[in-house]
Amino acid sequence: MVASMTVTPLTPIIGAEVSGVDLAGIDDEGFATLRKAFLDHSVLFFRNQDISIDAHKAFGRRFGDLHIHPAANDYNDGVKDHPEILVIHADEKTTRTAGDSWHSDVSCDAEPPMMSILRLHTLPPLGGDTLFASMYAAYDALSEPMKQLLSNLTATHDGGPNYRDRAGRQGVDTSAKAYPASSHPIVRTHPETGRKALYVNRAFTTHVDDIPRDEGNAILGFLFNHIEKAQFQCRFRWQPNSIAMWDNRCTLHHAMWDYFPNVRSGFRVTVKGDRPV
Ligand code: SIN
Repeated sequence: MVASMTVTPLTPIIGAEVSGVDLAGIDDEGFATLRKAFLDHSVLFFRNQDISIDAHKAFGRRFGDLHIHPAANDYNDGVKDHPEILVIHADEKTTRTAGDSWHSDVSCDAEPPMMSILRLHTLPPLGGDTLFASMYAAYDALSEPMKQLLSNLTATHDGGPNYRDRAGRQGVDTSAKAYPASSHPIVRTHPETGRKALYVNRAFTTHVDDIPRDEGNAILGFLFNHIEKAQFQCRFRWQPNSIAMWDNRCTLHHAMWDYFPNVRSGFRVTVKGDRPV
């Protein structure tokens, strides 16, 4: 399988398209090559992967235990007998999509997921791209004094505001439900590559801990603008049965909702991660 596998970078910073591989039947050697490419490029894209839910989960399990999303069934029923599957679906009744602002998946968890693997089976005629941004590149681009300042700071990531808003706009009241909230370092070190990455995002990060709110808000305002700069990004145009897998420890992503009222639909498998350090 390795002989037929080709890894083609999308940009010098982030993202690569992988061809010549069937993710449902990947062998150990192929998996080792893929894992290295994943760590090198942070996000990998695949075409023509018409794989079953079980094969999708089995592929995710090669990376680690699967994660169950804290807001998975707030406003849809999920997939029967597969709680690890997050349904990603938008249609003419949708009032807010999943992932429609820059975020790292479930960064509000104490141990946020390390990676996500999304297969879309139904696409709109045009639009519905996903954008990814390298938080390694965003960190590397900072001045030394700014890196120094951030190295001592943590920030709180709260799932409540984001998930309650999304459910509320679908007409579901989750005000009584508890969602995770956690404090994480603003600069985290990737446990496998050893590289430093910024770890804040507009969807979940509510405040910087242990400093006055006005100071923290100024820092977060700067960081939110900085991490969303185009030079850190790549953009993926989906086709039916494309798969994207991204490293939540060093990337953000933004699912573009520019296709209303058309349908965009698929399944996400998410792999558990470590406490950020
Ligand atoms: C997400 O997992 O955040 C959604 C990504 C997408 O729909 O492209």
